[in-house]
Amino acid sequence: MKGVVLAGGLGTRLYPLTHATNKHLLPIYNKPMVYYPIEALVKAGIEEVMVVVGGPHAGDFISVLKNGKDLGLKHLEYAYQEREGGIADALSICRDFADGENITVFLGDNPTDVDISEEVRSFKEGAHIFVKEVSDPTRFGIAVFDDKNKKKLLKIVEKPKDEKHNLAVAGLYIYDKKVFSYIKKCQPSARNELEITDVNNFYIKAGTMKWSYLTGFWSDTGTFQSLYLANKYWAEKALLEK
Ligand code: DAU
Repeated sequence: MKGVVLAGGLGTRLYPLTHATNKHLLPIYNKPMVYYPIEALVKAGIEEVMVVVGGPHAGDFISVLKNGKDLGLKHLEYAYQEREGGIADALSICRDFADGENITVFLGDNPTDVDISEEVRSFKEGAHIFVKEVSDPTRFGIAVFDDKNKKKLLKIVEKPKDEKHNLAVAGLYIYDKKVFSYIKKCQPSARNELEITDVNNFYIKAGTMKWSYLTGFWSDTGTFQSLYLANKYWAEKALLEK
């Protein structure tokens, strides 16, 4: 299994914080944000990682991550995304890196302390997503389950207009090599991006999507409030562990 961290994009929602550096290099307590997904991959036994970067501060990643050895990686590669074409577009750049192997993909702005070692170890084919209750479903891809069979995943709706369902799909995914052919079938969404939710819906339609509840802390850091809450969580956790 190889790992991918998607850290492209401009981070405009966090201006003025992101005028001088990339969103994923902002601090979450005592570490740059991008450390957290890499540490989660290393904890799951993944030592070969590609980080997709983009925007005007892409070069800063090398100063921070270097060759990844300090974080426990054996091999770290970088790829540059030309424009903010969406999460699936960023992932498509990793095809040669994946080289036919299964991949675990983290969004770079989703710090979590979840332990996915078991899911990674037992993964054979198809895809696997992780869901967790949220109080603000309109910000996420939301998993919709069958009313009668609550375990049957029907579809994922990206940024639903209503708050009828509240199980968000977290920004970490395990895929087999088919992911790249599904990305090729995606059309740009209303926000002109190739959506990872469309890719996940292809797997659901094919009957090859597995899911589990995410246990542990997970947050995206796309807003000032969620960035603050992530900082608060990791600061308190570090103090408790002292
Ligand atoms: O946080 C989880 C949510 O992340 C999921 O529930 C949604 O289904 C998924 O679409 C995504 O939603 P966001 O709208 O929050 O994604 P955002 O545009 O903020 O991008 C998240 C990360 O993905 C970002 O930190 C870097 C990477 N990315 C994003 C884009 C648009 C790229 O590498 N390249 C891109 O072009």
